[in-house]
Amino acid sequence: MTKPTVVVTRQLPEAAIAPILEKCNTRYWDSEEPIDRNTLLEWVEGADGLYCLLTETIDDELLDAAGPGLRVVATMSVGYDHVDASALGRRGILLGNTPGVLTATTAELALALLLATARRLPEGTQAVQDGTWPSWRPMWMTGRDIHGSTVGLVGLGRIGAAFARMLGGFDCRILYTGPREKPEAAREVGATFVAMDTLLQESDFVAVHCPLNDQTRSLFNVEAFRKMKPTAVLINTSRGGVVDQEALYEALVQGEIAAAGLDVTDPEPLPADHPLVSLDNCVILPHIGSATVATRTKMAVMTTENLLAGVEGRPLPNSVDLS
Ligand code: DGY
Repeated sequence: MTKPTVVVTRQLPEAAIAPILEKCNTRYWDSEEPIDRNTLLEWVEGADGLYCLLTETIDDELLDAAGPGLRVVATMSVGYDHVDASALGRRGILLGNTPGVLTATTAELALALLLATARRLPEGTQAVQDGTWPSWRPMWMTGRDIHGSTVGLVGLGRIGAAFARMLGGFDCRILYTGPREKPEAAREVGATFVAMDTLLQESDFVAVHCPLNDQTRSLFNVEAFRKMKPTAVLINTSRGGVVDQEALYEALVQGEIAAAGLDVTDPEPLPADHPLVSLDNCVILPHIGSATVATRTKMAVMTTENLLAGVEGRPLPNSVDLS
């Protein structure tokens, strides 16, 4: 029996790549750097399956280049805003992603970023390294308490709910908003559904946990920041495109909000000379929400399982509903 042909766009852990190499004719981009677009367009021609990352844009151009044999796109991410899902749906191509396995890990990172931003941890360590740590002063390096605060979640999906659960020990009031109420999850984590404006006006910390789509692109814009408290902190571990970064820069410089913690930006990597990087009240991490050895390995293996199921004509263990 002829083996299916697949393209794998990045170097993977052994546990994820070994089964693919065994079962498929594999065009393997065995590198830590992203595959260039032209090579990908060439390699995908005639492929039955594509294993990709969030660094590849999966659109009509690529699907045309692949031809009619492509059955499955398996992305090593839970987010799939880099994939034109409706184009896949129209062509009857399956889309696999990695929900569930990164939930707690990403929520932990959101909590870490919240603490780091609220308590100004990078500024503190920088002062130690720079030798600018002065003698103990009453108000030096003072930040904001999380305990007793109001935390507003934009999105109460898996990661938002896990984050809210972790906040359980901080005695916070938790608000959430989104396209619809989620009574069961809300009851479990003690969150109250409110309109976006109420959430912006009442929250001390606003944490973004929604996907990037047409409804959420630049959701945090000039108007949104004006509605927030001047003492508020914005935390984003979702996608950079949810925040209008020029508006964020102005809001941080003008004191419309107090601080921001970002694990995601637009673009990624964010150039080191980007204005946001120069701000002490903006903590920026390099998109490491799911970056633990265990979680990244599980994501890679789950993507392999999706890919192999797709090319072998079995239902995907984790597929996106494209209907
Ligand atoms: C995802 O999976 O969508 C994250 O952004 C990377 O883990």
